[in-house]
Amino acid sequence: MEYDDAAAERLEAVYLGPDVVSQREDTLQRISVQKGERVLDIGSGPGFLAAQIADQTGPGGEVVGIDISEQMVDRATKRSEHDWLSYRCADATELPFEDSYFDVVVSTQVAEYVPDVAKFFVFSNPADVL
Ligand SMILES: C[S@@+](CC[C@H](N)C(=O)[O-])C[C@H]1O[C@@H](n2cnc3c(N)ncnc32)[C@H](O)[C@@H]1O
Repeated sequence: MEYDDAAAERLEAVYLGPDVVSQREDTLQRISVQKGERVLDIGSGPGFLAAQIADQTGPGGEVVGIDISEQMVDRATKRSEHDWLSYRCADATELPFEDSYFDVVVSTQVAEYVPDVAKFFVFSNPADVL
């Protein structure tokens, strides 16, 4: 997926609207991240959720956002205020991490953009899906 600056800014404006802010709060409650945890945000986009997660893990944790769009990764990286929060370009269906490296894996509003959605969900243990 490609976003020019105008498209990225439009998406970010939507993601700062009250509905999506409230959805993020709901997600944060559901995943209940603890201090020191390692968290992966798949399809992190503008990085708003990952940034809030990094506030919760604190510096003893590690938060990584991956996104298939280099533009999104660049914008989220520029916005990052924590050195334990990083972003990188990667495909949700080919995660470049060891199995079980992360304590929590989250992904919001991404699966619908992944053509091979079965490959996307193969990374999840259905028992752990919230
Ligand atoms: C609608 S945005 C959601 C952003 C973020 N998860 C949120 O809820 O604020 C969808 C994001 O998924 C990313 N994306 C789409 N397909 C992807 C894939 N195969 N692997 C990784 N990211 C992908 C897009 O680039 C975009 O940033």
